[in-house]
Amino acid sequence: MGYTRSMDSENTLVADNGAIPSRQNDIAIVIGASGGIGSAICRQLLSDASLGRVVAVSRSEASSDFPLNGDRPVIWYQTDHSEFSIEQICGSIAELKQSVSQIYIATGTLHGKDYSPEKRIESLEENTMQQIFQINTIIPALWLKTLTGLFSKNSDCVITVLSARIGSISDNRSGGWYSYRASKAALNMILKTTAIEYTRRFPKIKLNAFHPGTTDTALSKPFQSSVPAEKLFTPDYVAKRLMRVVNKPFEQCNIRFIDWAGEEVIW
Ligand SMILES: NC(=O)c1ccc[n+]([C@@H]2O[C@H](COP(=O)([O-])OP(=O)(O)OC[C@H]3O[C@@H](n4cnc5c(N)ncnc54)[C@H](OP(=O)(O)O)[C@@H]3O)[C@@H](O)[C@H]2O)c1
Repeated sequence: MGYTRSMDSENTLVADNGAIPSRQNDIAIVIGASGGIGSAICRQLLSDASLGRVVAVSRSEASSDFPLNGDRPVIWYQTDHSEFSIEQICGSIAELKQSVSQIYIATGTLHGKDYSPEKRIESLEENTMQQIFQINTIIPALWLKTLTGLFSKNSDCVITVLSARIGSISDNRSGGWYSYRASKAALNMILKTTAIEYTRRFPKIKLNAFHPGTTDTALSKPFQSSVPAEKLFTPDYVAKRLMRVVNKPFEQCNIRFIDWAGEEVIW
């Protein structure tokens, strides 16, 4: 059966014959599954009976919030995001011998015990910059590198990586937040470059650099006081919007920088 990229009223991908394609035999992978947005993505995927298994990857142990037994148990992998661990997990996923049709990379950091976003260039610190680039840019890049081993020429998969509008070079009018901003801009460049390579190697694979909007998670907590209530989204709302974005047709491209509303963000 072929699928045109047409949509029904729910903005869902529909097949040539009008049926919604079943992905019940497919796998969706969520990396950063314990995070505010990552766990909401897991919940959203699990609420859709037309989807198959959810593979959750996290630094934490399996969350009791998700079914680990029963009809559709979540497959949970704990990781330290080392290359060794990433290779082991991708090897285990390959052994499941199921197509991977959705991948979400929802890891990221903005502040920590010893660091917060820099307002002035004098605040830059080498260790902090390295840590932020490691988490926001290098870890997603290593996952993209190793996940490539799961694909073949016919793989049909949408990869969504949590980026941020602040990583847009063209949209940078307010400055500040040097390390976070630059790490997301670098992440976007990794995604763009991957997309160019994929057009040749995996022509059906699509990529989203996704801006979720300000979302009520640990990451945004210290910065929420200036955000109007209606602009502070719940993780579940963002995950629902994300599912619509994932199913939105790609127009003549295999990558887009897109926000929670489905609007393109300038690179
Ligand atoms: N919240 C917002 O307003 C907002 C706005 C724009 C963009 N974003 C982006 O959305 C993504 C998800 O953020 P969130 O809001 O869900 O934040 P969050 O609740 O803090 O979750 C971030 C997750 O990233 C992983 N992570 C954090 N530190 C890590 C480290 N040192 N090493 C490896 N992994 C680490 C963890 O996943 P595990 O616990 O599963 O290991 C953590 O739970 C991030 O990329 C963020 O930049 C968020």
